[in-house]
Order: sequence, then C-alpha cells, then structure tokens
Amino acid sequence: MKSKKYDNLAKIYDLIDLPLEWKISKFRKKLLKGLHGKVLEIGLGTGKNLKHYPSDVSLDAVDASQGMLSIAEKRNKDARLHRMDAEKLSFNDNSFDAVVCTLSLCSIEKPLNALREMKRVMKKNGKILLIEHVRSRNKAISFFQKIASPVWKLMFGCSLDRDTGKSIEKVGLSIESEKSIFLGDVFRVFICRK
Ligand SMILES: C[S@@+](CC[C@H](N)C(=O)[O-])C[C@H]1O[C@@H](n2cnc3c(N)ncnc32)[C@H](O)[C@@H]1O
Repeated sequence: MKSKKYDNLAKIYDLIDLPLEWKISKFRKKLLKGLHGKVLEIGLGTGKNLKHYPSDVSLDAVDASQGMLSIAEKRNKDARLHRMDAEKLSFNDNSFDAVVCTLSLCSIEKPLNALREMKRVMKKNGKILLIEHVRSRNKAISFFQKIASPVWKLMFGCSLDRDTGKSIEKVGLSIESEKSIFLGDVFRVFICRK
C-alpha cells in the first residue's frame, strides 16, 4: 500500500482541491443523504464526506495515508478511522449495508482488487456508491486524458483515464445506475449491487 504521495500532499490537499470541491460537494451530500446502518468509506482522504453522513449511520472509514487521516480526524465526530489498504480490508465478509468511495478508485494502485474487497465486505442486499472521474466516451477527451495521465499521476497520485464502469462489471458487480455529473461524462456517480 503506497501512501507517500498523499502523506506529502495532505497539508495542501484541500487547497488544491478547492475548485473541484466547489462543484462536487452538492453531489456528495445527495449521494450520502439516504444512508443508514453500517457504512464503510474507502479512501477517506481528508474527510470531506464526513459532514454529509446522516447521524444514524455507523461509519468505519479507511485510508492508506496517515497524513490524510490526521486531517480527517479533525473533522471527525464519531466514525472509526483506520489506516488500512483498500486492496486488503480486514473486515469480515457481508459486514456493511453500504460502501462509499469518492474520487479514490483513480488513485488506488489496483482498483479491481479494491472493488473485489468492497463487494466482499458488503452485505447481500447492500450497495456501493461511487463518485469517480473516469475515461470519457468522447474520443478527443479520452485521448487528452491518456496523454495527461502520467504527469497527473506523478503530481497528484491519480490516473485520469481509468475505465471504472468496465472494472465494476469485471468484478461481477452490477451497475444499478450511472449518471454523469460534471465535465461531460468524466465525473460520474455509480450505484452498484452484488
Ligand atoms: C484523491 S484522494 C480522495 C479523497 C476523498 N475520498 C475525497 O473524496 O476527497 C484519494 C485517497 O485515496 C487514498 N488511497 C489511495 N490508495 C489507497 C489504498 N490502497 N488504500 C486506501 N486508501 C488509498 C489516498 O491516500 C487518498 O487519501
């Protein structure tokens, strides 16, 4: 589990992410508002989702980076935060009513492993809620994403051109809904089931 990049970025992350957050925050709120029961968040980062969880949610949240978790801790009220690899979760099978992951599948080294783990720890009737930036269906945009991705990854630790919809299906999850929310079809919300 690599964490150095985000440990280094942690103190300035919220600042550099400000323009995007201005657009995305309302989608976080909408995504999380109906949740209840036991919820797991993957790649918590600095904890931007924390304020949007309903008060009756029992939340566990994991991140690889202690630097990011330390910032999230300041925003935390009563979630259990864990430094843990999303590709190797230490939770039991069928433990959570919902698994949330926002803007993190782009930076997890092997997203298929993380999706398999999300599926494993989610209860049979649970759901996985994702906000991700993904490879566009528009050829010109996806070409730009492909050439810009290596530099972006070096700077910010995330890939710009992942086909996350395909990965979701590859691990045997079904996409209940998929909605484009920002920059054409680049930023999308996925709701997935077992
Ligand atoms: C771009 S940030 C997104 C943070 C947050 N989810 C948000 O919506 O603002 C990606 C986060 O994923 C975490 N991450 C990357 N690889 C991980 C892994 N293998 N296991 C757990 N967290 C990981 C990083 O440490 C970072 O905090």
